[in-house]
This record gives sequence, structure tokens and C-alpha cells, in this order.
Amino acid sequence: MTTHTVCIHDHQSGRTVRLQIASDQYVLMAAEAQAVTLPYSCRNGACTACAVRILEGDVHQPEAMGLSPELKAQGYALLCVSYPASDLVVETQNEDEVYELQFGRYFGQGKVQAGLPLEGD
Ligand code: FES
Repeated sequence: MTTHTVCIHDHQSGRTVRLQIASDQYVLMAAEAQAVTLPYSCRNGACTACAVRILEGDVHQPEAMGLSPELKAQGYALLCVSYPASDLVVETQNEDEVYELQFGRYFGQGKVQAGLPLEGD
């Protein structure tokens, strides 16, 4: 196990924190254990509330099902399921930004219609 320096620019709070996080710890939970609260929702890689853009370094995030391979390749990561693989510099995103990139294409047809009869009604 290796320990890495993780620098997080949190746009929501306007602060920057620098933490020491082991390579076998998720960044979000390790930050919380050091009294640093960051954005989150599901805590299991399925939404985009904890998404960051990686400015420097690399993460290991095999459970990040909420991010497409394309977004991972563009440098996005989900901190709730990201292990630091090197020293890191990341910045939090507007949740809607990554949500739109990840899921927007599925909702491009407009809002779901309410009140439609269910099959068998
Ligand atoms: S909190 Fe939902 S993906 Fe991280």
C-alpha cells in the first residue's frame, strides 16, 4: 500500500484541501475520515454527485458504473469509488454538468409523460 497526496478543489465550498490518502482507500470516504465533507449522493458509483475532473494524476475506479468509458477517458472520476493511483489534483464539478454528459442523451426526447395507463389497466 502506498499513500498519495490528494489535492481537491471544491467549487461548492470554495475551498481547496490537501490530504494524504492510501492507495487502498476510496477518496471520498478517506476525506470524510479526515473531517472533509465533499458532495455525494449514492456512495456506490451509480450517480454523478461526487464527480470530479482529474487535473493531475490518475485514479483506479473499476466500480464507477455511473461514468461511461468516454467520460473516464476525458478525465472524470467518481470519488466515492476512486482509489488514488498516484498523487492527484482534482476539482469538483457542477453535478448537472457530468449528469448531463453521462445521462442527458437518454432524456433528449423530453420529460416522461405522467398519467399514461399501465399495461393491463
Ligand atoms: S456519490 Fe453517487 S457516484 Fe459517487
